[in-house]
Amino acid sequence: MARPGHSAWPLLAGMLVLFAARASGQTQDCLSATFQGGRTFQTCNAMPVLGASLHWTYHTENGTADIAFRAPQNSNGWVAWGINPSGLFMAGSNVFIASQDSSGGVSILTTVLESTSPTLTNRSLSFEVPVTPAGEYVAGVYTIFATVKLPSNITTQNTVWQAGPGNTGAISPHPTSGPNLQSTRRLDFLSGQSTGGGSNSRLHRRNIHGILNAVSWGILIPLGAMIARYLRVFEAADPAWFYLHISCQLSGYVLGVAGWALGLKLGSESKGITYNPHRNIGIAIFCLATLQVFALMLRPDKKNKYRFYWNIYHHSVGYSAIVLSAINIFKGLDILKPAGGWKKAYIAILATLAGVALFLEAVTWVIVLRRRKSGKAHAAANGAGWQHQQGA
Ligand SMILES: *[C@@H]1O[C@H](CO)[C@@H](O)[C@H](O)[C@H]1NC(C)=O
Ligand SMILES: *[C@@H]1O[C@H](CO)[C@@H](O)[C@H](O)[C@H]1NC(C)=O
Ligand SMILES: *[C@@H]1O[C@H](CO)[C@@H](O)[C@H](O)[C@H]1NC(C)=O
Repeated sequence: MARPGHSAWPLLAGMLVLFAARASGQTQDCLSATFQGGRTFQTCNAMPVLGASLHWTYHTENGTADIAFRAPQNSNGWVAWGINPSGLFMAGSNVFIASQDSSGGVSILTTVLESTSPTLTNRSLSFEVPVTPAGEYVAGVYTIFATVKLPSNITTQNTVWQAGPGNTGAISPHPTSGPNLQSTRRLDFLSGQSTGGGSNSRLHRRNIHGILNAVSWGILIPLGAMIARYLRVFEAADPAWFYLHISCQLSGYVLGVAGWALGLKLGSESKGITYNPHRNIGIAIFCLATLQVFALMLRPDKKNKYRFYWNIYHHSVGYSAIVLSAINIFKGLDILKPAGGWKKAYIAILATLAGVALFLEAVTWVIVLRRRKSGKAHAAANGAGWQHQQGA
């Protein structure tokens, strides 16, 4: 009985039309492509990032594919395409790298990427390359022509591609963020089907990691700290602030540890590229937060003389964790480079939290000073005022 409201249909239809137009547009771009020497290819795929496309003809009889890989890049830069028999990532990839030589021609280097900063020596690949590869550079677009015997005569292969800056023949490292890390795809050379496979689900998990950590360390934990600092000034909120604080921090900790563990997992899977500062700050935050959980159990009684030192410890560890978290969220945003709005959204949240904290800080001081004044007149021995607040 439930069906979308009438208003949903035009929107849906519009989206379908747009989608179809986009899809056919891509296929057209793909199929209308022309190549030097009258070469033609049976199938093509527009790749999801770096503006690249792959054109190929697969020969079942001998298990080879003639390919043309196309990607835009400025004339100093380079582009590369390859197959990785060991998995859907860069390390282990057998690649063709096209760059311009000093005479203005395109030279093709073949190599196997063994590490993060490979020495790019021209060497033969782990599969057969029956025809000498060639390249062209026309109107800001590189094309690599290659013929490969698909490893193990399997039609579905892990394909990788890349583009980066250079200096006429010298190949500089490509950016290690955003689209340059999403350029892997499993491709069936027979059917033409391709799936993001690991790369999309990996991107998905990176986003989950980012959201979990931004919500937990970036919002819940600072909020919990603010509750502890500003709510307890009000006598009426006396035990309530404590339980609110604890529930904020514990739920933040649980979500945060889940996000942290996912981050470590992503890090261990990211063969070749490690974001050491981001990783190390993450580990430090986890240690500080875990200390806080233990500190809760060791909390001396309010009247205990060590309570004063415990408070200093608890506050300094807590505030350090919050500051490190904000730094690390920015580092993470720089790695993930999500669509425009996210960084701004996080800055807005941070600014709001800081603004509210500043306002409440002022309110707290007014209340505390006023209370201290009347407290002095009343009964100095009572220990009212800021000291009392600190010890709450
Ligand atoms: C593979 O087969 C195709 C079609 O018969 C042929 O054109 C091509 O030259 C062959 N390639 C190799 C490397 O034998
Ligand atoms: C590759 O596999 C196809 C069938 O999948 C077969 O017809 C062909 O002979 C095989 N080629 C080689 C070189 O083993
Ligand atoms: C790599 O070696 C091949 C074959 O020897 C050669 O044709 C090609 O020009 C070399 N590429 C570079 C960049 O030196």
